[in-house]
Amino acid sequence: MRTASPLRYPGGKATLSGLLTDIRRMNCLGAMPFAEPFAGGAGAALTLLLREEARSILINDADPAIADLWWSIVHCSEEFGDKIETIPLTIEEWTTQREVYRSPSSGRFDRGFAAFYLNRTNRSGVIVNGGPIGGHEQQGKWKIDARFNRKDLVERCKRISEYGSRIALSDDDGRTFVERVGSSDVFMFIDPPYFEKGPLLYLNGIDSDYHGALAGTLHRRESQPWVLTYDDCSEIRALYEPWACVRPYSLRYSAAERRDGKEVMITPRWMTVPAA
Ligand SMILES: C[S@@+](CC[C@H](N)C(=O)[O-])C[C@H]1O[C@@H](n2cnc3c(N)ncnc32)[C@H](O)[C@@H]1O
Repeated sequence: MRTASPLRYPGGKATLSGLLTDIRRMNCLGAMPFAEPFAGGAGAALTLLLREEARSILINDADPAIADLWWSIVHCSEEFGDKIETIPLTIEEWTTQREVYRSPSSGRFDRGFAAFYLNRTNRSGVIVNGGPIGGHEQQGKWKIDARFNRKDLVERCKRISEYGSRIALSDDDGRTFVERVGSSDVFMFIDPPYFEKGPLLYLNGIDSDYHGALAGTLHRRESQPWVLTYDDCSEIRALYEPWACVRPYSLRYSAAERRDGKEVMITPRWMTVPAA
């Protein structure tokens, strides 16, 4: 199946959909809603929803522009699609969209669309402080329109909006979201910004204290079903190894989106996970 998310995300996790589906099935959790507290492109959640592996999904991201983007795709899909079809793919328009993205007075739809535009036209999909594909002089091999297949993107957004009644959107802080929904019958796939390189890629205020507090929140919810992914570093291992199951796994990234180093998947100890 094609990629369900219309976003390009550094380290996007749509490729984990099969593994997450297996984990849900092995642990008889397939009937539970699927939540992403740090959703970004929500690649895994959307793939499970569109494959009918999840009856409903919860998409949460604290970046207001990302939250606006999802709101616009779900609630204003026609207008969003029209704009995808007609917006110029030029450096001039890129500059305008970056202004809209940065301006505190932009409306919800405009800011959501601007974040989408930057995600599709920036190198590696990095929205915050990313530069346009091909550079400002458009001298590169690939130009600003290289990742903006209008027809395909309109179709993806339309498909998501058709599932709108089964998608719950929010823009809470991720840990607050986990506190809020983590004790109900919800399966959570938690993919926070990296411990080491996260601050370079996303708009976030996550520091080592935050990562530690998130570990505390999840420890208190170790009887709940969740899967957490992180960069494999000693700080994260120290936070989780004493009480959770931490195992390395590898993802195949495209060249542009490759992240250095390995990742770990962390689960509560009671949860059955397929052999690596
Ligand atoms: C690693 S990305 C998630 C990528 C996602 N799994 C995918 O496949 O597209 C992390 C996301 O967390 C969001 N984020 C950063 N700080 C946050 C916070 N405190 N609460 C909730 N979301 C946050 C960022 O905006 C970013 O979209």
